[in-house]
Amino acid sequence: MLATKTITEEILEWKKERRAILLAHHYQEPEIQDLADWVGDSLELARKAREFDGEVIAFCGVWFMAETAKVLNPKRIVVVPDREAGCSLVDSCPVEQLRAWKRRHPDHVVVSYINTSIEVKAESDILCTSRNAVQIVNSIPPEKPILFVPDANLGQWVKRQTGRENMKVWQGACLVHATFPARRLAAARAEHPGALVAAHPECPPQVLDQADFVGSTSAIIQWCVETPGEEFIVMTESGVSHSLHRLAPHKRFYFIPNENCNCSECPYMKRNTLEKLRDCLRDLEPRVEIPHDILRRALIPLERMFAVQ
Ligand code: 13P
Ligand code: SF4
Repeated sequence: MLATKTITEEILEWKKERRAILLAHHYQEPEIQDLADWVGDSLELARKAREFDGEVIAFCGVWFMAETAKVLNPKRIVVVPDREAGCSLVDSCPVEQLRAWKRRHPDHVVVSYINTSIEVKAESDILCTSRNAVQIVNSIPPEKPILFVPDANLGQWVKRQTGRENMKVWQGACLVHATFPARRLAAARAEHPGALVAAHPECPPQVLDQADFVGSTSAIIQWCVETPGEEFIVMTESGVSHSLHRLAPHKRFYFIPNENCNCSECPYMKRNTLEKLRDCLRDLEPRVEIPHDILRRALIPLERMFAVQ
């Protein structure tokens, strides 16, 4: 009797057949991370997409990240396991509203977080991620006023880090990080008095005020692994626990449930499954397609970001 293939074997066979690379964000399920060629934060994955020379990118993350990969690889096929893997920050900033804001502030430089639609990127002067937002804002001449979209918490944090007063911040929010309550973090700190706190800058200011370290997903992992200490409270999506436990198995990591789902999981990221990954490699759908003009315009602020960091 012929042995049936496991889902993992099927994925690896399709990956070879398609000459594909698998990129996975840290918030993906552990079994997807384990199959990926690269696991990283949004900046690292954008960089990997830029260096790639195969034919297909299977992007295990959310749609805006795959759009970024497509902008950098216009001739290659970019697929995502689930078309509905969106982002509340992207939804919070429709392009018509950004255009209206720009019309009211024509002399401002538009700095867009990478968590935006491709149409918003095309309207932007420069992009940033949570890893390089401070450096990107510091690269803009101090006398130039800034419009920062769409994350209010990241924008406020960058304002505080840079001392930049002439920066207006859009009021968008991540449905995972923005609903981490400061009082639950305070209670966790009381319960684990020796624990250090690492937080993603999409968290509310009252959470960031309690943090020993603020940084992107990969920066949080690196800091927790390298910093002496046995216990860490980690204020980001719980998918990072996979890398944390692999890289520092002797340490203890605590995740705090948010008020949105009473968990620390991104419902968009978790839409991707191994079955959907196999199907997207086999069918080459859902596929990212971007009109030429928008792609060309979105590439400019993206390349400006890479030129800074
Ligand atoms: P990173 O830039 O840290 O990968 O964050 C992306 C994101 O969506 C955080 O919620
Ligand atoms: Fe968007 Fe928040 Fe999910 Fe990140 S965690 S993809 S910002 S909804």
